[in-house]
Amino acid sequence: MPSNLQVLLDHRPTDKVSPANFRIVETPVPAPGPGQVLVRQTFLSLDPYMRGRLSDAKSYAKPQEVGAVMQGGAVGIVEASNNPRFKPGDAVVGMGGWQRYFLSDGRGLNVVDARAIPIQAYLGPVGMPGVTAWYGLNKIIAPKAGETVLVSAATGAVGSVVGQLARAAGARAVGIAGGAEKCAYAVQALGYAACVDHKSASFAGDLKAAAPNGVDGLFENVGGEPFQQALRRLNDFARVAICGLIASYEGAPTALPDMRIFLVKRIKVEGFIVSDHMELWPQALAELAGHVAAGRLKWRETIKDGLENAPQALVDLLHGENFGKMLIRVD
Ligand SMILES: NC(=O)c1ccc[n+]([C@@H]2O[C@H](COP(=O)([O-])OP(=O)(O)OC[C@H]3O[C@@H](n4cnc5c(N)ncnc54)[C@H](OP(=O)(O)O)[C@@H]3O)[C@@H](O)[C@H]2O)c1
Repeated sequence: MPSNLQVLLDHRPTDKVSPANFRIVETPVPAPGPGQVLVRQTFLSLDPYMRGRLSDAKSYAKPQEVGAVMQGGAVGIVEASNNPRFKPGDAVVGMGGWQRYFLSDGRGLNVVDARAIPIQAYLGPVGMPGVTAWYGLNKIIAPKAGETVLVSAATGAVGSVVGQLARAAGARAVGIAGGAEKCAYAVQALGYAACVDHKSASFAGDLKAAAPNGVDGLFENVGGEPFQQALRRLNDFARVAICGLIASYEGAPTALPDMRIFLVKRIKVEGFIVSDHMELWPQALAELAGHVAAGRLKWRETIKDGLENAPQALVDLLHGENFGKMLIRVD
């Protein structure tokens, strides 16, 4: 008999999160009741927002419950169903959490086409990170042809999509990434015009050289010192989309510089949370799926095997050790 392996939050981190904050349990595989569907999960999505949910500080979303299965996006295959929207064998995406089997009432669970597009892409470019990129770029930065768009964490799940969409819109995409290998990939595979290594001692000068005409749109995924440097490169009427500040999730807060630059340069700065814009998801997902199916949108994955490795994979993600979308292959 297979069992349901589950990863629970055991206790909240008081400093940096570690695998010791989690507990792994084995429970019986649940049987679907009326209206329910049982999903055998294949891939879990690891996302930076999970760090915020481990804390019970007030935020835009409810904290992860202690003693409960870690929440998170996942894809899988329907194993049994008493719900007319699903049949065994369907590929689905939903918030199945860190467990092998997910018992759902069907709400928030969607059937996907896993023939044209690999199933795990629904957790990346054709999922929440892709929509995040689409929203911040199109609705906040709205790049015009010829403008320069600067993207931090340029090869990551969100950033890799931002750079490619910006380029498709006729903008000059410039990336910031950690290390020579990521920067080479950004330029050669993702089509960035240039990429600057934030780990290099010459970062500030390199950034200036990579964006000789300044920056019209800044898609900020990281925060910290590279963000301060990026702000110095902004042009008049630049738009800054604050998508994430991963450098500050377990590190020092990211401060704003002298506010005068926002006035003098008439800069728009807007933070956003993608789940506030659910009405735009169908349009964004349809566009992203079209790009992926046609081979116009590239992405990369870091896949760790085994559900029991999800806690360490989250720690690795929070330390920037992923290269592309961070995933767990469940079995
Ligand atoms: N606003 C929203 O609705 C929304 C939705 C999804 C994601 N986000 C945010 O978007 C950002 C990117 O998310 P993602 O899922 O695409 O992650 P990701 O970019 O795939 O992974 C995070 C990357 O951040 C970079 N990084 C730079 N400095 C770091 C530091 N000090 N610590 C850790 N990582 C560092 C690393 O890339 P390098 O090595 O290249 O620097 C790392 O690979 C995150 O801040 C996330 O919270 C926001």
